[in-house]
Amino acid sequence: MRAVVTGAAGFIGSTLTDLLLAEGHVVVAVDNFDDHSTGGGRFLTGHLEKKAFQLERISILDLNALRQSFQGAEVVFHLAAQTGVRKSVKDPMRSHMVNSTGTLNVLLAARDEGVRRVINSSSSSVYGNALRLPTKEEDPVLPISPYAVSKLSAEHYCSLFYDLYGLESVSLRYFTVYGPRQRSDMAIRIFTDRALDGRRPQIFGDGEQTRDFTYITDVVDAIRLCADRPGLRGEPLNVCCGRRVTINQVVRGILKEVGREDLEPEYLPMQDGDVDHTWGDNSKARRLLGWEPKVAVEEGLHSYVEWYRKERGG
Ligand SMILES: NC(=O)c1ccc[n+]([C@@H]2O[C@H](COP(=O)([O-])OP(=O)(O)OC[C@H]3O[C@@H](n4cnc5c(N)ncnc54)[C@H](O)[C@@H]3O)[C@@H](O)[C@H]2O)c1
Repeated sequence: MRAVVTGAAGFIGSTLTDLLLAEGHVVVAVDNFDDHSTGGGRFLTGHLEKKAFQLERISILDLNALRQSFQGAEVVFHLAAQTGVRKSVKDPMRSHMVNSTGTLNVLLAARDEGVRRVINSSSSSVYGNALRLPTKEEDPVLPISPYAVSKLSAEHYCSLFYDLYGLESVSLRYFTVYGPRQRSDMAIRIFTDRALDGRRPQIFGDGEQTRDFTYITDVVDAIRLCADRPGLRGEPLNVCCGRRVTINQVVRGILKEVGREDLEPEYLPMQDGDVDHTWGDNSKARRLLGWEPKVAVEEGLHSYVEWYRKERGG
């Protein structure tokens, strides 16, 4: 298959690109290298000489450039985004432009170039402070940050494009993804960095908030399966481990991995836009995709800390 991966230089996009190339597919990687925290293209350098790999350094805000990149593509994996809830609170227009308008561009280009399916990256943040835990796809969406609003509007465009133009799509609501290459603004990375430096972990709130942490390889497996499964018509799917842990538990796990259980967490005020709990019901993704998450958080943290030690150089 000829596939486009938008946001291919990022954490999830580059891991998906590795998998697609390893399976023998042709990958057109679209990224504007917007954010230095993603590695500035470092994760793609091993592919640059490959015949099956093509790098397009463009923005998803450039519709004409997108149309050209999408020519002949069968599937578009759409991961490019302005990520980060807190960044969106500071600059809501930017998350709106990239995530809402950018996704609309991706859908228009896909429709115009005859792409069969778009796999959209949404987020558990659309549920806001979820009314039911574990949360199902049909539960109310109550976004509490500009990022979550922009992701929700992108989801609506996806389902609308199926209804109006027959463009197949699916919106995957990822729940806190972690693992090698993860962004430097994400909590697990920050906790690990501070522990390795011998500094106390800083936790926003009392640390009893919970998250359904989902390991990168499980997420990429779900994304990949979406390319082929029949019957995806624009609906959202939770992609989550299906188990929640507190931030205090995660911090203790990291401190143990790093061998710094002596470091006492420091508690700071909660941040605007952060939700209290995420915990997803993944039965719909299991049923529709034949997918199941394989990596428990203890194992995932171990692999992540091991990778990050090497990344930092010891
Ligand atoms: N990581 C998570 O926990 C998580 C959770 C829920 C949803 N998501 C979604 O998954 C997707 C991937 O997330 P990630 O963690 O890999 O993020 P990331 O920041 O590592 O990757 C995003 C990529 O998009 C690129 N990009 C940004 N603006 C662009 C533009 N205008 N044109 C082209 N490229 C642009 C960036 O350069 C970057 O390489 C995003 O859509 C994100 O919203 C991630």
